[in-house]
Amino acid sequence: MESALATLRHGASDVITKPIRDELLMLSLERAEEKIAMSQQLKDHVESLERKLEDCTLELRQAQEELIKNRRLATIGESVAGLAHYVKNIMTGLRGGMYMVNTAMAKDKPHMLKDGWGMVQRNIENVSDLMRDVLRFSKERTPERSVCSPNEIVSKAVELFREKAKEHHVKLYMDLDPNLKEAYLDRDGIHNVLVNLISNAIDACIYDTDISKAWGVTVRTELVTSANLGETILFEVTDNGTGMTDEVKAKLFTKFFSTKAGRGTGIGLLGSQKIIHEHGGEISVQSKVGQGATFSVRLKRAMPKDNTGARHKPTKT
Ligand SMILES: Nc1ncnc2c1ncn2[C@@H]1O[C@H](COP(=O)(O)OP(=O)(O)OP(=O)(O)O)[C@@H](O)[C@H]1O
Ligand SMILES: [Mg+2]
Repeated sequence: MESALATLRHGASDVITKPIRDELLMLSLERAEEKIAMSQQLKDHVESLERKLEDCTLELRQAQEELIKNRRLATIGESVAGLAHYVKNIMTGLRGGMYMVNTAMAKDKPHMLKDGWGMVQRNIENVSDLMRDVLRFSKERTPERSVCSPNEIVSKAVELFREKAKEHHVKLYMDLDPNLKEAYLDRDGIHNVLVNLISNAIDACIYDTDISKAWGVTVRTELVTSANLGETILFEVTDNGTGMTDEVKAKLFTKFFSTKAGRGTGIGLLGSQKIIHEHGGEISVQSKVGQGATFSVRLKRAMPKDNTGARHKPTKT
């Protein structure tokens, strides 16, 4: 009985006992044949299933790659369409300027010549601004950090808008934290972010129809120290212009979203967000219609290792 069980465990199809009877042996051999045929069938079946599974996986992978390619193409298509729309607006501006220049020359009107030429120049600047933004936006780049003064970056950015703000009766204010001396940032990147935010804030005042307001834009900095996050730099740009509806707020950081009817590309905030994210920081907004807006940028102060060590190591006396 023991050895019979052992043979079955090792794959024997049957066990017959002596003395061997022919009909029993025949029956047993037939069962063995059946069993061999069945296990071969099962093996074939499993192999064919495996092949099908491989084919399906391959098809699925190809479909997935196709989907990714199509999505990328759709995004490129969308971007090109947005860009084409903006370029068309610039072309209209250029044509208008050229028409004025031509008419001024034909009719000898120097005043008109000056206006027309100004229009041409503005639109040429728009093209180069657009190209700069698109290039900056399309490249994945790591911030080129150096030790710099965040307050100085703010002062330089604000300076660029003195004339424009004055022309539109918008007061510019700075509220800079004297404790914020140095940080490890991409100076150009942060400069661009601030330029975008201040430009938007001034625009929000220019577009505001409530003339009873004394329009103002304030740029504030603060060195925030917290137990869990360490030292963080806060840049805040606040205006008391048009403010935003929830619908506008939801679309702020999407490509080519602009309410400035051809005067904006609608990639200023998206590009700014990209720079902030490359720094590992955050940008957020608070706004109410008619009451203005505050854009807040939070970045780690992130001094380089050597500097931080030297600065924060407790000195033994
Ligand atoms: N401070 C603000 N107050 C009110 N609306 C704002 C403010 N900042 C941005 N917005 C809204 O967000 C939109 C998108 O801003 P974004 O800077 O991305 O593009 P834009 O200023 O229209 O064009 P550009 O690409 O030239 O900057 C603006 O058109 C405007 O509607
Ligand atoms: Mg803008």
